[in-house]
Amino acid sequence: MAVLEHFTSQQAIDLENKYGAQNYHPLPVVLTRGEGVYVWDVEGRRYYDFLSAYSAVNQGHCHPKIIDALKKQGEQLTLTSRAFYNDQLGQYEKYITGYFGFDKVLPMNTGAEAVETAIKLARKWGYEKKGIHTNQAKIVVCQNNFHGRTITIISASNDPIATENFGPFTPGIISIRYNDLEALREALKDDNVAGFLVEPIQGEAGVYVPDDNYIREAYELCKEKNVLFIADEVQTGIARTGRLLATCGNCACSDKNCSGTPEVKPDILILGKAISGGVLPVSAVLADNEVMDVIRPGNHGSTFGGNPLACAVAKAALKVVKEEGLAENADRLGKIFRARMQELVEKTDLVRLVRGKGLLNAIVINDSEDSSTAWDICIKLRDNGLLAKPTHGNIIRFAPPLVMTEEQLEECISIIATTISDFSK
Ligand SMILES: Cc1ncc(COP(=O)(O)O)c(C=O)c1O
Repeated sequence: MAVLEHFTSQQAIDLENKYGAQNYHPLPVVLTRGEGVYVWDVEGRRYYDFLSAYSAVNQGHCHPKIIDALKKQGEQLTLTSRAFYNDQLGQYEKYITGYFGFDKVLPMNTGAEAVETAIKLARKWGYEKKGIHTNQAKIVVCQNNFHGRTITIISASNDPIATENFGPFTPGIISIRYNDLEALREALKDDNVAGFLVEPIQGEAGVYVPDDNYIREAYELCKEKNVLFIADEVQTGIARTGRLLATCGNCACSDKNCSGTPEVKPDILILGKAISGGVLPVSAVLADNEVMDVIRPGNHGSTFGGNPLACAVAKAALKVVKEEGLAENADRLGKIFRARMQELVEKTDLVRLVRGKGLLNAIVINDSEDSSTAWDICIKLRDNGLLAKPTHGNIIRFAPPLVMTEEQLEECISIIATTISDFSK
């Protein structure tokens, strides 16, 4: 333990560099503790977390109610596999289906697994309900998507870093431009299309918000052609964009913005990340009976999917979202944040634009895509006590935990403004 007592950031980084596969390029900061909107590094410095583990920690770090559920269930029963029933899964299934307004849920662990599940479900529905000929089913996806890292999912990606030297790829995928209804209309002329898989906002691509009518009209085009509308809300879901879901439609949320402006109810809804408040890998695929009932015993599953620990934690985490009005808070603070970033856009040449919804936002830095400016700004933000990370090219995503107060947000805005103006000098 002597080594741990003097464990420095550099030692931790060296260990990861020596013993870990180099599949990430982290910002150089080594975190050891988190609480609410804050994280601390091993030297005791405190930071605002402006990434929230890619929108997994919407409820804030180590939320006491979620950790309490973790501890209680952790001492009771953690894993049974689905070979047996457990007393948590059914209760969780009832809770989450009621929460989002679907008949059934298929529980998985990671977001990528849930996306895989949705693709399998759509294909099977395509053969058994739509009447597509064996092995001919197609899924329409959008360029610049991010749905995860498995072979089938990267088969739907046009990002060379994700795909190069990982072929051969899964067939049956048609890729069209995002936010292009004509391209979708054209793609749906193919009767073998079973599903349209889409992010309501493209998060990883740089927080691309489509036109206001896009999701609604894409959904209607799918309905006309008997194609399943599959919403990947792994990043946008669970209050992140100022509503319970970015596609918010027939859900049972208490969000006052929701009932007045229903968008769509996806045929298949994919959730992950914040279902557990970032405590455990928990994901879910939700659908009504007409779709979900094509899945029979043995068709799909996972040893850990629907484990009692995950169920107890997820139920607690979803309750927190409603009890603390996180959708409303994200909506309110998001508007303040974008207005203040817009002032920055007008004041400095360094920031070209700000975009986003709720507390999923990004600024675009005015420099070439391959320059290191966004990265260098993130290093300075870190030095000033705020952690954010560039996403594709020169874009910085800002996605703090949704439990943030207005006062904390104001402090963060002033850190960002000072950092940017110092950087422009
Ligand atoms: C929209 C979307 N789908 C799927 C995933 C994959 O989730 P996971 O990393 O848990 O596999 C992500 C992760 O960032 C995502 O943003």
